[in-house]
Amino acid sequence: MTTAHPASLPARLGGLDLANRFAVAPMSRVSAAPDGTPTAEMADYYAAYAEGGFGLVITEGAYTDTVHSQGYLNQPGIASDAHAAAWRDIAGRVHAAGSPIVLQLMHAGALSQGNRYRDDTAGPSAVPPVGEKMPEYGGHGPWPTPRAMTQDDIDVAVRGFADAAVRARDAGMDGVEIHGANGYLLDQFLTTYTNTRDDSYGGPVANRVRLMAEVVGAIRAEVGPDFCVGVRLSQTKVNDFVYRWPGGAYDARVIFTALAEAGATYLHIASEGRDWIETARLDDGTTITGLARLTTGLPVIANGGMHQPQLAAQVLRDGHADLVSVARGALANPDLPRRVADDLPLEAFDHMMLQPMATLANAGLWRRARAGVTV
Ligand SMILES: Cc1cc2nc3c(=O)[nH]c(=O)nc-3n(C[C@H](O)[C@H](O)[C@H](O)COP(=O)(O)O)c2cc1C
Repeated sequence: MTTAHPASLPARLGGLDLANRFAVAPMSRVSAAPDGTPTAEMADYYAAYAEGGFGLVITEGAYTDTVHSQGYLNQPGIASDAHAAAWRDIAGRVHAAGSPIVLQLMHAGALSQGNRYRDDTAGPSAVPPVGEKMPEYGGHGPWPTPRAMTQDDIDVAVRGFADAAVRARDAGMDGVEIHGANGYLLDQFLTTYTNTRDDSYGGPVANRVRLMAEVVGAIRAEVGPDFCVGVRLSQTKVNDFVYRWPGGAYDARVIFTALAEAGATYLHIASEGRDWIETARLDDGTTITGLARLTTGLPVIANGGMHQPQLAAQVLRDGHADLVSVARGALANPDLPRRVADDLPLEAFDHMMLQPMATLANAGLWRRARAGVTV
């Protein structure tokens, strides 16, 4: 008799019962209608992961307000009742296939490369972002320098997150995940070189994490104690794969504690552009995910190369995390949990799936070409 893969075992996430420990990681697919309304094509896409056996589906980042939050053209929103109604259909499809679904809430801040509501960008400080806009999400050329957010701007952003979470809950979502990772607004506040403020949101790490904690608290106050409110964090960013929290394990403890005290249900540590092991090791010999568990006692999701069954098994068995999330490996294998449980081989991820843009339509064309179907 073979032993079950540890990710194939059931788990709990806050009040949610999960059939296994594989989550689909959030992936922006820039495939919503121009006004941000999710489409029937997106419902098929998300249902396929539930049908493939994922214990949890986390959606792509949805923008939270009709001001500065939108990051890309054709990004879905959760900023209006029309957006929410379409997400309700998606939640229904995913539930019908047997998985819970959590909606990621995203404010792009300075890393906005397409916003139908505003021509300018806003961030913690008027610092030009490093790197260039991302073609796979429809951008090109340098990022503009953002306007430094006033206290009023900050209040609007926090309210946007809280209202969006209520819309998500009322649309049948099982939870929300606050996007505090990968260089977007909340991570811009956390990051020393994008946050040069001299008010209570700038300076020491306890100040730089303040906005993220305020967002958790504002959502928690609206949705009550039982709704699932996760937070996604990362050291790396879509436009910077080398940044690490300058205070290492000290910073990590301050950040994790602030978010737990504000009412987070789980912490999800992303590994943008790198495998888990490359971003997880901290200066004190711990791993970032293991330390998050130890510091807070909350469930923790590890990410970065977790489609590799041996790596996922090691991370779970050695207590570095409670769940693993899979992005590119899930694109290549929407039925990855089934394959791992049955010890079947996995398809390799081919980056051409996301070219020239990361849309669902382009992935469909890629699949047809691979299958030898001529259009
Ligand atoms: C096409 C694509 C879109 C992504 N969009 C998001 C997103 O909307 N929100 C987010 O937190 N991370 C996003 N990511 C990052 C992934 O969730 C994940 O952290 C990264 O790909 C590493 O995991 P992997 O090794 O399993 O691919 C995206 C990744 C890809 C490939």
